[in-house]
Amino acid sequence: MKLKEHEEREFSELLEKYTEHPKVQRMKGFSQHGRISTFEHCHRVARWCYGVSKRLHMKVDMTALLSGAMLHDMFLYDWHTIGRMNRYHATNHAELACRNAARYCNIDEHAQHVIRSHMWPVNITKLPKTREAVLVCIGDKWCSLVETIACRRGMAKRRKKR
Ligand SMILES: [Fe+2]
Ligand SMILES: [Fe+2]
Repeated sequence: MKLKEHEEREFSELLEKYTEHPKVQRMKGFSQHGRISTFEHCHRVARWCYGVSKRLHMKVDMTALLSGAMLHDMFLYDWHTIGRMNRYHATNHAELACRNAARYCNIDEHAQHVIRSHMWPVNITKLPKTREAVLVCIGDKWCSLVETIACRRGMAKRRKKR
C-alpha cells in the first residue's frame, strides 16, 4: 500500500507507541509466514488498514484500528513448532493476542474487539461488528495471502539456485 509523504509520517507517529514497546518488539523473533516475522506481518496489516481508510475517506477510530491491527497477532510464541499451545492455534490465538495486548499495551474495549474478531469466519461466533474490525479482518487475510505467495516464490527461487 503506497502512502503519501504526510500519511507516511502520521502512520509512523501513530504506531510508534506500539512498535517501540519491548513486548511488541518480541514479535520480531517469531515467524508468521516463512521469513516474515509476526511483527512485520502485523505492521503490514496496520499499513494496509491505514491506507485503505485514507483512500476511501472512511471515518474511523484510528487508535482502535491501528492498535488492533498492530497487535492482532501478539500471541508471542512460535506457532510452527508442535506443542499443546499450537494444536488449536487457528482458533485460540486471537483471544491470547487480545489478552497480551490488553495486559501489556493497555488497549481499550474497541481495540480488543478488533483483535478478538480478526479470525472470523474461522472463529464463527466472533463476528467483526465495527468498520475497524472489518478492515483488520479483511486486511489480515489479504496480507497473509500476499506474504504466503511471496514466501512460495522465494522458496522456489532458492531451490532453482541450488
Ligand atoms: Fe491471526
Ligand atoms: Fe494475522
